[in-house]
Amino acid sequence: MTHAAITGWGKCLPPAVLSNHDLSTLLDTSDEWIVSRTGIRERRISHVRLEDLATVAAERALAAAALAAASIELIVFGSCSYDDQVPNMASGVQLRLGAHAAAALDLNTACTSFLYGLSTATALIRTGVVRNALVIGAELISPFMDWSDRDVAVLFGDGAAAVVLEATQNEEGLIAEKLGCYADSRETLRVQGMGGRYANRGVLYGVTRWQFAGQEIFKRAVQGMASACEEALGRAGIDAGEVDLLVPHQANLRIIEAVARRAHLPMERVYVNVQRYGNMSAATVPVALCEALEEGRVRPGGWLLMPGFGGGLTYCAHLVRWGSRTTPLGLSAAQLPPNERSALAIIRECREHKMRPTAVEAREPFAGI
Ligand code: UT7
Repeated sequence: MTHAAITGWGKCLPPAVLSNHDLSTLLDTSDEWIVSRTGIRERRISHVRLEDLATVAAERALAAAALAAASIELIVFGSCSYDDQVPNMASGVQLRLGAHAAAALDLNTACTSFLYGLSTATALIRTGVVRNALVIGAELISPFMDWSDRDVAVLFGDGAAAVVLEATQNEEGLIAEKLGCYADSRETLRVQGMGGRYANRGVLYGVTRWQFAGQEIFKRAVQGMASACEEALGRAGIDAGEVDLLVPHQANLRIIEAVARRAHLPMERVYVNVQRYGNMSAATVPVALCEALEEGRVRPGGWLLMPGFGGGLTYCAHLVRWGSRTTPLGLSAAQLPPNERSALAIIRECREHKMRPTAVEAREPFAGI
């Protein structure tokens, strides 16, 4: 049987750091509240577009796999914060990489988009439609954030990561997964106005209002991720005790601890980086995977369990058997353009654009229809 091995991985984190203290100068919040309720200490704010973050991550992943962009047959771009809806994001990455032989697909299941993308690409490799794929999880949340709403503004950050999948006859890569969605809770996380209206960073972004029922999302996240872990393990006939590392969606340390408890995994076998980046939605799991590899936390042949949840409310868990190589074959020289501005300065500029609608945008929507 054909499997889809993970042969390359790469991340791209924008350099501007927004600390909890920075946020307390904008909002009625404190480092103590944010750390005790979420575990988050800082997050990154991007000075560039989503496509830039994703392209650098993709170039690094390709170098790690020593695969030329021209050989890539599929690009799956997992995200909910597109620069553009049409044309799609994956085609932009195809062009930037010179991956002209690749099919280009965007996929949005909010925070689970990378993992759902891993399922999609793996299935297309297993069935022989393509022989390899680049799967990206990337988000640019900051322009869509309501920076006056402390309920959500402290939770999210920007970032990107990608993996390369290649067909193999070895039993490795994604072995079993469970995908699901609690649509009856979909109104617990709605971003109103997540469309393009106001200019910032050379692109148009919307004025957004977040409808966010934190406690309800918390409960369903734990329930969805824990049950999906059990089901994915059951499908593969693997016992929780055999899992080497849990690499969960990083939204809140308390959610991660609750899922680990229910999955019967001690925290020593859980990878956590939410303190550094906050919730980067679709980018959290692939960035965590890259960092777990960099830190030597993934052993050759090891079992990784990757649960996630997101708006929808989608949830899932992916059981991956790692291959024999845990180090990159090559390094890419790809870099983001330099940034001189602080994270707070980028956010201030973002808020200003949102507060100064142009004459056309200030008109009533659909006036005259
Ligand atoms: O990927 C999907 C994204 N969604 C999530 O990850 C959300 C999951 N939910 C959570 O992570 C948690 O529910 C939160 C971190 C959002 C909230 O934690 P909580 O322990 O459930 O707090 P709470 O909602 O019960 O709020 C407690 C208090 C409230 O004040 P009162 O009503 O008790 O006076 C809030 O107004 O904390 C207040 N509060 C804040 N205080 C300081 C809410 N946000 C803040 C803040 N700073 N940023």
